[in-house]
Amino acid sequence: MPLDDSKLWYRDAIFYEVPIKSFYDSNGDGIGDFAGMTKKLDYLKDLGINGIWLLPFYKSPLKDDGYDISDYYSILPEYGTIEDFKILITEAHARNIRVIADLVLNHVSDQNSWFREALKGKDNPKRDWFVWSDDDAKYSGVRVIFSDTEMSNWAWEPKTKQYYWHRFYSHQPDLNYDNPEVREEIKNVVRFWLDMGLDGFRCDAVPYLFEREGTSCENLPETHEYFKELRKLVDTEFPGTILLAEANQWPTDAKAYFGNEDEFHMAFNFPLMPRIFIALATESAAPIVNIINQTLPIPPTCDWGIFLRNHDELTLEMVTDEERDIMYNEYAKLPKMRLNLGIRRRLAPLVDNDRPTIELLYALLLSLPGTPIFYYGDELGMGDNIYLGDRNGVRTPMQWSFDRNAGFSTADTEQLYSPPITNPNYHYETVNVESELRLPTSLLNWVKKMTRVRSKFSDILGHGDVEFLQHKNRRILAYIRTIDGRNMLCIFNLSRRPTYVELDLSRFKGLRPVEAITDAKFPAIGDLPYFFTMPPRSFFWLSLTENDFKEDD
Ligand code: NOJ
Repeated sequence: MPLDDSKLWYRDAIFYEVPIKSFYDSNGDGIGDFAGMTKKLDYLKDLGINGIWLLPFYKSPLKDDGYDISDYYSILPEYGTIEDFKILITEAHARNIRVIADLVLNHVSDQNSWFREALKGKDNPKRDWFVWSDDDAKYSGVRVIFSDTEMSNWAWEPKTKQYYWHRFYSHQPDLNYDNPEVREEIKNVVRFWLDMGLDGFRCDAVPYLFEREGTSCENLPETHEYFKELRKLVDTEFPGTILLAEANQWPTDAKAYFGNEDEFHMAFNFPLMPRIFIALATESAAPIVNIINQTLPIPPTCDWGIFLRNHDELTLEMVTDEERDIMYNEYAKLPKMRLNLGIRRRLAPLVDNDRPTIELLYALLLSLPGTPIFYYGDELGMGDNIYLGDRNGVRTPMQWSFDRNAGFSTADTEQLYSPPITNPNYHYETVNVESELRLPTSLLNWVKKMTRVRSKFSDILGHGDVEFLQHKNRRILAYIRTIDGRNMLCIFNLSRRPTYVELDLSRFKGLRPVEAITDAKFPAIGDLPYFFTMPPRSFFWLSLTENDFKEDD
């Protein structure tokens, strides 16, 4: 199947986020690689994925898992070669799967030759590629993001006796975007990889490119200007490729990255993600309704990337103190489960491996407005290991089978980049692709079914409007997705108890709800309120259909 040529392909996509290192090891050295990833493309195709987001695969000392790049123009040898990268792209495209990659443009590794040059002296041409100061009082008040490890955004450089600016780890000096050479160099990086057929970038740490005294040094107008330049570049030189923003911000600031359809095509819906979990914890639809109302509308060709979990801690930076307390109390009872302002756990363990809750979460992810982004392994219900340090507990080897090393690698287990999950509740001997494919009722088979339903209704769910229905039960979330007069009603019981709801559907009088997964038919809608009883943590997706079948269908 060739690559479809839809300009808005990202709105019909389901993305899969995956670190090369963790997916499949083709050469038995204990580390996943490009060749391994290529071997597993059919798995992703079968799962219903049509977009892959690759975590950083560039040369790096891996002190921040590749978000510390030492050479932007080469691949970490353990992951393979540029040739392997190109084969992955070709093979993915042959399956109508697009591939985007991380673009880490705010900072580099302190091992990067640009920074090493800069350390040679204050008059080195690369010195101004970074942000220096004689004291650490500049830009005071700017928040520290990795608050568990860093005390300040400044680090002392003893040889040249100045401080350099870093928003993340101190081994990740920020680039100086006031320097035109830096701005140009990053454009060259973009061209280098897009030229090889990549379909776009997930841009890392978007809000922090520029620094200005007296501001939070986030979301500055200069930052937006630079992304407008990048957008122009990709639109003119690589039409059809996309930019996806990682801007973990409050709704208004996050939305601003769409610009006037002249910045990002997509942005992660960071405001929504924690509020989905808050809605479950408080058994209330309000957090979701409120935040969706704040994050919409957006320009027509843009889209939110919606997600439940990713490779980082579940971030709680952009919630109120009260909301953060709710999250910690519900989902991070042990101190080890917390990191910075967040929770380092995977989807299944977060909800105590409760299957109805996991299904409900996927049903939200696949029906709320935006492009769903899965995190590798969550489709199996993979567990985590909070004892591994940093965020490594959610980055363990993909579980392919019940064989040695979860079928991920033939290396000695001690040689693996990370131990596989062996906690009895999530052991790879049961939670793995092979076993789950064989079991018709497995989570994996259920997720596959859901992606098929999503793709059957991709016009409504990918492009349609959303309208929340008013009713009297705060535990019930109900919305209509609509496009061109076709409607889907989505209802969720967010609580742990059965409940009921009466919905005024009279404007759809005469239509019959048809359950989208099984085609089960519900009674025709009349003038009276439509009554639903809902088991705990359950949902319905109902396509509202012309009443052209017999009463006992
Ligand atoms: C955001 C990435 O998602 C995270 O993994 C990384 O540590 C920081 N940016 C710094 O690059």
